Amino acid sequence: MTAAGIPDQCPASVAISARPEFGDFQANGAMAAARLMKTAPRNLAQDIAANLDLDGVASHIEIAGPGFINIHLANDFIGDQVNALASDAKLGAATDHQPETVVVDYSSPNLAKEMHVGHLRSTIIGDALARVLEFIGHKVIRQNHMGDWGTQFGMLIAELEEHLGVGEKPEMALNDLEVFYQQAKQHFDRDSIFADKARAYVVKLQAGDRHCRDLWQMFIAISEAHSEQIYRDLNVSLKHTDIRPESAYNDDLAPLVQELRDQKLAVMDQGAQVVFLPELADKNGNPSPVIIQKSGGGYLYATTDLAAIRYRCQTLKADRILYFIDARQSLHMKQVFTLARKAGFVRPRVRLEHHAFGTMMGPDGKPFKTRDGGTVKLHQLLLEAIDRADRLIAAKDPDLNPGERAAVARKVGIGAVKYADLSKTRSNDYIFNWDAMLSFEGNTAPYLQYAYTRIRSIFRRAGFDADSFPVAIKIVDDREKQLALRLLQFGEMLDQVAADAYPHLLCNYLYDLASAFMAFYEHCPILKEEISEIERQSRLGLCRLSASVLATGLDLLGIEVMERM
Ligand code: ARG
Repeated sequence: MTAAGIPDQCPASVAISARPEFGDFQANGAMAAARLMKTAPRNLAQDIAANLDLDGVASHIEIAGPGFINIHLANDFIGDQVNALASDAKLGAATDHQPETVVVDYSSPNLAKEMHVGHLRSTIIGDALARVLEFIGHKVIRQNHMGDWGTQFGMLIAELEEHLGVGEKPEMALNDLEVFYQQAKQHFDRDSIFADKARAYVVKLQAGDRHCRDLWQMFIAISEAHSEQIYRDLNVSLKHTDIRPESAYNDDLAPLVQELRDQKLAVMDQGAQVVFLPELADKNGNPSPVIIQKSGGGYLYATTDLAAIRYRCQTLKADRILYFIDARQSLHMKQVFTLARKAGFVRPRVRLEHHAFGTMMGPDGKPFKTRDGGTVKLHQLLLEAIDRADRLIAAKDPDLNPGERAAVARKVGIGAVKYADLSKTRSNDYIFNWDAMLSFEGNTAPYLQYAYTRIRSIFRRAGFDADSFPVAIKIVDDREKQLALRLLQFGEMLDQVAADAYPHLLCNYLYDLASAFMAFYEHCPILKEEISEIERQSRLGLCRLSASVLATGLDLLGIEVMERM
């Protein structure tokens, strides 16, 4: 553009073309530059095009409309690129950026109850981001900020004590945490002696009383095990060592409040310690209050989050912290971020990001519930998903032996639930729909898993080992070209996902890729006799690369593939 006499401030505005007839890329900068220079945009575009040096890259360049420059890439150039991609273990993911230490806070259920559908989104969206960030070369530290502390635990351990007192085994008593919680709650509401004991136990627990600690420990261990079973079922990468629960910060809370008082940020207000944040004032100019210690001395959710953020910055040395938490906690996160920065817990260049998400809705458009209005346990939901997938698979492929069928049903059922969630724009609510998510057509996990099995079956029929033959792709047909272009976008798309924390971009990409593959597969025969050996090898190369990108992309979403289904 400089050679065409255009000032430096004018961007080239290069974008991927919306339609193949507009070339593969479009440079749209001529129009804005022409406006600035008060000249004819089409002529300017012609000047730019005349100065472009795309020898060996573009096959031809044309000017369209008022001054769009359409660039058609040369098939040989794409062939070279895609062959290089095939020998790259990272499939084109950029590895040249500065690796960062990224803390990802996700799942983080409260241990007083069993994990329910409300925990699904944080768990799987956070996991997808952790995987993507790791894949592109960052150091990811997962933090499962489990809620294992607070007033309910007095009631729960008092209840547990009674069950153990009559000889019940802890695993049995806590087999169903939901039922147990209800029992404890009813007990608390109708029996004032029990209620007093429960209140006393909270205080004793927090003071470090041995007996209360032991009961609490027992409760937490079993509840954690419930969650960890869900993580395995869900194919979520959280490990036991990623758990850093609220109680881990107990000892930090008193000094933290003192520090905020010393800094004159916290002030005494009606017996409580409160920080008033003018940065988050309401529309009448009243500063936003954050209580960090109650008048009775107890600490709050915000206090623990402040301690956690300080630990993540100072001990874990985070460059960036991502929180995957329900949108309803947006104000809480804003308060914590603002206060943490003000107090100097977080260096200015550290990025703090709350990636909020909407609610999972039932078919009636209201938050997803059981028929009688209760919360749906995640465990139950996943069992139903597997069961539904199993029936579908049985109908589709009756020859599959029972063992294999069970494995496939698990991958398809779990994959469908996860993908249905991940493929929706995170920030919106969405309606949970079994039939849509388990469909073999459209933007679903089964469609993508099926596309993968199709490719693998081509190799079986060709008698080729998909993983080890040399790839020598030569682009001839336009379908091959479109497929190759998609494959080449994998790395760039991952950077986008990592930057914005929107996994649906990866889902959309995989869906487009699978569609481009299907178009290629329909129009470009591979195993037919009249196909030359060179052509067959080239097309099998595209197949192999497509399978790798599909499997890798799905794996980054925490979704498994299989050889047949
Ligand atoms: N335990 C909280 C809940 O269930 C979520 C915690 C999210 N993480 C955090 N650092 N606040 O609502």
